[in-house]
Amino acid sequence: MNNRTFTMIKPEAVRAGVHADILKMIVDNGFRIVALRMHHLSRNDAMRFYAVHKGKPFYEKLVEYMSSGPIIAAILEADNAVAAYRCLVGATNPQEAAEGTIRAKFGTDKTANAVHASDSDENARIEWKQHFCESDIML
Ligand code: CMP
Repeated sequence: MNNRTFTMIKPEAVRAGVHADILKMIVDNGFRIVALRMHHLSRNDAMRFYAVHKGKPFYEKLVEYMSSGPIIAAILEADNAVAAYRCLVGATNPQEAAEGTIRAKFGTDKTANAVHASDSDENARIEWKQHFCESDIML
């Protein structure tokens, strides 16, 4: 399915209370939310989610951060969802993200960059399965 992607609103954005603003920005930009869940990742959950980055210099900090407070996980639907959502999200570093993107508006630094966005259809599916059962997802 190439019209769905996965996102997480990261802990600092939830702590700052801007998660509703981010969800509104997502919907206002044409994405339909087909699954939504707020929960607190354990350290093991975060290690599993970011396993592809294991060994990279930022991995430990990222795992620590992502398990520091509740996140909001969502599956989003739109035409060409993965690419369209990455465009709305902006560059990894909020300082380099284009004006009007979610990270430019709400991100702090490369770790606390407001949201996660899947980088392929295959990874989106792998990632959302770590947060949702099939019955949680709207048809
Ligand atoms: P995310 O979309 O969640 O996917 C992987 C995360 O790794 C990324 O957002 C960043 O938060 C983090 N990341 C990637 N590159 C770096 C980096 N060079 N330094 C710190 N964190 C990084």
